[in-house]
Amino acid sequence: MAFGWIDEQAHTRRRAGLVRTLRPRPADSPLLDLASNDYLGLARHPEITEGAAEAARTWGGGATGSRLVTGTTELHGELERELADFCGFEAALVFSSGYAANLAAVTALAPHGSLIVSDAGNHAWLIDGCRLARGTTQVVAHADPDAVRKALGTHEGQAVAVSDTVFSVDGDAAPLADLAEACRQYGAGLVIDDAHGLGVLGDGGRGAPWAAGLAGAPDVVVTVTLSKSLGSQGGAVLGPARVIDHLINAARTFIFDTGLAPAAAGAALAALRLLRREPERAARARTVAKELHTRLTAEGHEAVRPDAAVVSVRAPSPEQAVRWAADCRAAGLAVGCFRPPSVPDGISRLRLTARADLTDGQIDRAVRVIGETRPYVGVTAVHRT
Ligand SMILES: Cc1ncc(COP(=O)(O)O)c(C=O)c1O
Repeated sequence: MAFGWIDEQAHTRRRAGLVRTLRPRPADSPLLDLASNDYLGLARHPEITEGAAEAARTWGGGATGSRLVTGTTELHGELERELADFCGFEAALVFSSGYAANLAAVTALAPHGSLIVSDAGNHAWLIDGCRLARGTTQVVAHADPDAVRKALGTHEGQAVAVSDTVFSVDGDAAPLADLAEACRQYGAGLVIDDAHGLGVLGDGGRGAPWAAGLAGAPDVVVTVTLSKSLGSQGGAVLGPARVIDHLINAARTFIFDTGLAPAAAGAALAALRLLRREPERAARARTVAKELHTRLTAEGHEAVRPDAAVVSVRAPSPEQAVRWAADCRAAGLAVGCFRPPSVPDGISRLRLTARADLTDGQIDRAVRVIGETRPYVGVTAVHRT
């Protein structure tokens, strides 16, 4: 029977406790939200929603076509200029999602015969980019510039190293300056995904490349999403103008995709302008993350020290992680739950978002609920040096 094999897969998934379900979020949820990626608490900020509404009124509900046909408005250009300027890069190109931006950067910059050196902890989208690119991928140890050097040393010709700047599972940061140095040693490019760094790291939220002194570097290309700190939707690639021109001509997810919706562009632009005026939001997100980590590890939870705004708390098994997250939810706290196959190391986790707009009282409540619902006791805290 057509699709009959799906039932078998569904059965296996059920038995392993790995079924995923959709849970619609009401507009006025009473839950304390530590599950979203709205790091700066901007998604519902009146300036951002008004930016979206005004853009939709002016430009319409959709972009109406590919960026190369009718889908480029003056608003797209404005967003690209301000985003590039804010993050310190020569040029930017916006896409309909961060996913599309990542696929574009990796596929267009790793042609046939080239080598892609990819960190073992990279996000699914960078991995998909490697799979679709014509170059050959070599996966190397997590956050290990020497492993990158070794891989680059085995190859003659074009090469790029690709890495998240902040890894989405554990919230740890990549050694960006060292990675860039390793790449330079071999004449390779560096493509980094700053989805979790933009708005949180760097001066006033200018991102991890800025913090690492790599903003504007001629051999560094950055992808970002507009859907996390900027409270909107969409993605972008930032880098040297010749790279951006190349993407306009060669990146399939740019050429064959409908342009970013005007409302999303308007919201992202409003968020960017707000962040320039209120740079303290970035530092607050980092402070909240550190506070959550300190309090949780003091209570014996196993949590990795956060480098940005992702706080990851380990759970003993996928089933217990799901149960733990459900118990938190029942107690009024929304937390993320990561488990196989979404985690590279097979370890399940609760994933907490340290939003800049969380109050001290809300942090207290979150720590209390996570402690009261924990499925196990007596685990040692993990401290990275
Ligand atoms: C590291 C990373 N890169 C890219 C993306 C994709 O961004 P978008 O949701 O805009 O497609 C995500 C989103 O989850 C992410 O965590």
